[in-house]
Amino acid sequence: MNNQQYEFGMVGLGVMGRNLMLNIADHDFSVIGLDLDPLKAEAVEEEAGKDKPVRGTISTEEFVKSIRKPRAIMLLVPAGKAVDGAIATLLPLLEPGDIVIDGGNSYFPDTERRVEELASKGVHFFGMGVSGGEQGARFGPSMMPGGNREAYERLRPIFEAIAAKVDGEPCVEYLGSGSAGNYVKMVHNGIEYGIMQLIAETYDLLKRGVGLSDDELQAVFQDWNQTEVQSFLIEITGEILAKVDDETGERLVTMISDRARSKGTGKWTSQNAMDLQVPVPTIDMAVLMRDMSKYKEDRVEAANALPNAGLSAPIEMEKQALIDQLRSAFYFAMISTYAQGLAQLTVASKEYNYGLQLQDVAKIWRGGCIIRAACLADIRQAYTEKPQLANLLLDASIGEDLMDRQQDMRAIVKLAIDKGIPMPAYMASLAYFDAFRTETLPTNLIQAQRDYFGAHTYERTDKLGTFHTVWS
Ligand code: 6PG
Repeated sequence: MNNQQYEFGMVGLGVMGRNLMLNIADHDFSVIGLDLDPLKAEAVEEEAGKDKPVRGTISTEEFVKSIRKPRAIMLLVPAGKAVDGAIATLLPLLEPGDIVIDGGNSYFPDTERRVEELASKGVHFFGMGVSGGEQGARFGPSMMPGGNREAYERLRPIFEAIAAKVDGEPCVEYLGSGSAGNYVKMVHNGIEYGIMQLIAETYDLLKRGVGLSDDELQAVFQDWNQTEVQSFLIEITGEILAKVDDETGERLVTMISDRARSKGTGKWTSQNAMDLQVPVPTIDMAVLMRDMSKYKEDRVEAANALPNAGLSAPIEMEKQALIDQLRSAFYFAMISTYAQGLAQLTVASKEYNYGLQLQDVAKIWRGGCIIRAACLADIRQAYTEKPQLANLLLDASIGEDLMDRQQDMRAIVKLAIDKGIPMPAYMASLAYFDAFRTETLPTNLIQAQRDYFGAHTYERTDKLGTFHTVWS
C-alpha cells in the first residue's frame, strides 16, 4: 500500500474525472483517483506520467486512507443513484470534518437530502456545478460550489488553481449554503438552453428566411464572434457551420437529425421557476422546442398539409444591414435570457436561504463555462454596483442599451412572423421585456374573470381590502 498522503481524491475516472485529475496535478497538487475499472485507474497514472503526483486505485480503503485529513473527495459519477452508491461506499470510512463534493449535474433537492444525511456524521457535502466539458475539465472549468463556508477553505486553493481564469481571476467562488452550487449550475444550463435556441432560430432565419449559403452562414457567426455577442456558443456555432461531412461533402450540420435530446437540467430550471413563480419564458421556449423537435413524423405531415407560403415573401432590406439588425436583436434576446435566469436566482436565493451574491455568479460565468460571453463583464458590473438589483433590466446602462436595440428586435420578430419561421425564443425574450416594463398589465381583467366565475375575490387600486362582486 502506498503511504503518500494525497491532497485530493477523485471518484469516477471517466472523461471529466480523469481530466480534472490531470488539471489538479498540473498545478502541483497530489491527487488519487478511485474507479472500479482497473483499466481506468491505470490509464490516469499513465497519462499523467511519472513526474506527476497522480495515483489510480480500485481499492476504496486505500483511496480513503491515502488522502490528507480533513479529506477532500470529489465524485464525478452520473447524477442520481450512482452518487448515492458512491456515498454509501465511502461513508463508513470517512471521519468528521471530511468533505465530499458532487461535481455532477445533480438535482438540487437530492443535494439538500445528501447535505443533511452526511451532516449527521459530521461530514460536509458540497454540490458543485462544473461547466466546460472535457476541455474545461482539463484546462480550466468554471466551478459553482455550494456547501459549508468554513469547509470551503480546505478546497479553495485547489479549485482556484484549476479553474479557468479571466483577467487573472479564477472562475470559481464559494456561492452559498446547501444546494446553492447545483442550483446555480441548473440555472446556468437553463440559460444555456435559451441561448442555444436563440442561435438555432438565428440560423433558421438566415438560412431559410434570407437564403444564405453555407459559406455565408459560417462567416456570419465567425464575424459575430468579434463583436458584442462574442461568446463560447457563437464561437462553436461558427466552427460547427464550417465542418464538412467526410461522407457526403455536405456541411455536417445539415446531415444531423433535428430531434434534440436533453438530460433534464433545462426542464428542471423551467419547472422550478414555475414553482417559485418566476417567469423565464425564453428558457421555457427552449425546452418546448426540444420537445417539438421530437414529433418528426407529425411535422413532416404538417409541412405538406400546411405549406408555408410566407417563406417566399420578399425582403426589402439590404442583406448586410439585415444581418447587422439580427445581431443587435440577438444581443437583446441574450441579455433578456440572462436577466430571466438571474431573476430566478434572486428569488431562489431568498426562498432557499442560499445567500447568493449575483456579482460572484456573473464573475465565475465569464470564463470556462458554456454560457461564457463578453456581456458577462457588464452583467457583473451591474450587480457589483447594486448587489440587490431586482432585475438586470433595471440596470441603467443595460436598460439604455436594450432601449436602443428594441426596434431591431421588433423588426426581426416581424420578419419571422411574415416568413412563418418559428422564433419563439426571440419572441419570448421581447415579450419578457415588454411585460416587465408595463406598469399595468391586463391581469386586472383576469382577476375580474376569476371573481366572476369562481368568487375568487380581487384587490382594488384605490383602497385596501379584498372584494367580491355579483357580476351578472
Ligand atoms: C456544461 C454543460 C453540461 C452538459 C449539459 C447538456 O455546463 O458543461 O451544461 O453540463 O453538456 O448537461 O445538457 P443537455 O443534455 O440537457 O442538453
